[in-house]
Amino acid sequence: MGGDSGLRNLSYIKIFNVGSRYLVNRVQDHIQSRIVYYLMNIHVTPRSIYLCRHGESELNLVGRIGGDSGLSSRGAKFASALGVYMRGQCITDLKVWTSHMKRTIQTAEALGVQYEQWKALNEIDAGVCEDMTYEEIQQNYPGEFALRDQDKYRYRYPKGESYEDLVQRLEPVIMELERQENVLVICHQAVMRCLLAYFLNKSADELPYLKCPLHTVLKLTPVAYGCKVESVFLNVEAVNTHRDKPESETGQTQRCVITNKMLLHAED
Ligand code: F6P
Repeated sequence: MGGDSGLRNLSYIKIFNVGSRYLVNRVQDHIQSRIVYYLMNIHVTPRSIYLCRHGESELNLVGRIGGDSGLSSRGAKFASALGVYMRGQCITDLKVWTSHMKRTIQTAEALGVQYEQWKALNEIDAGVCEDMTYEEIQQNYPGEFALRDQDKYRYRYPKGESYEDLVQRLEPVIMELERQENVLVICHQAVMRCLLAYFLNKSADELPYLKCPLHTVLKLTPVAYGCKVESVFLNVEAVNTHRDKPESETGQTQRCVITNKMLLHAED
C-alpha cells in the first residue's frame, strides 16, 4: 500500500508476471478502458498467424472487383494446395477463419477442417462500383476514380466503404486474433492489407498499396518488438489484382524537367 500511495490518483495498469495478474487503477474514459481491454488480451505464447486471400475467383479472372463469385479452377487448385501446406505445418490446434463470401468459404472447405465465418472479414464494399473493372470505374465515375487515387486510405466509395471504415470494422477481429494462438485467416485483398498493416506497423498511406498476391500465404510469427514474415507462394498461377499507386502529375513533370536538363547537358 505505502509504495503505491503516490500513484493513487494516476490512471495505470500494472501487469504481473506477463499477464497472470493485473492491477487496474482509475480507468477514466473510453480510450483508457480500450487500452486496458487490449492489454488484458495480448499474450506471449509462441504462435503463428497465417494470412491469405481466397483462391482466384471467377470475377478475379475477368478483372472485376467485389461481387460474390465462386472459385476459378486455379482457385480450387490453390485451395487444395493450401490444405497440403497447412497440414505440413503440423499444428494441432489450428483455427481457420473465413469471411461470409463464397470464395473464402470454398477455399476453407477444401481444407477439410472446421472453420468459423466472420462477416467482419468480408471484402471492402465498393458500393456503386461493385462488379466493375477499374477501367469501367474510370469511364463511368472519373471524378471518383481520381479521388481514390489521391487518398486511397480515406476515400469512401459512394454507398460503400473506405479503408478507414474497414480498419474500424476489423477491430474485433484483430482483438480476437490477439487472444488466439495459431490462426489461418482466409480473407480478401483489402482486408488482408489491413491485417498485415496492423501486424507490421504500416502507415495509413502504405496500407492500401501493400502487396497481397493471390495464392500466397504470409506466415506471421511474433518476435520481440515485431513480427517475422515468411511469404509462401503455393505454386498455382493466378491473375494479378494489384493496382499500383499512379505517379502524380507533379512527379511526371519533375521527371520531364530532369530529362530535359540531362539533354541540355548532353548537347553542351
Ligand atoms: O480485385 C479484388 C479485390 O478484392 C476487390 O474485390 C476489391 O474491391 C479490391 O480487391 C481491393 O483492392 P483495391 O483497394 O486495390 O482496389
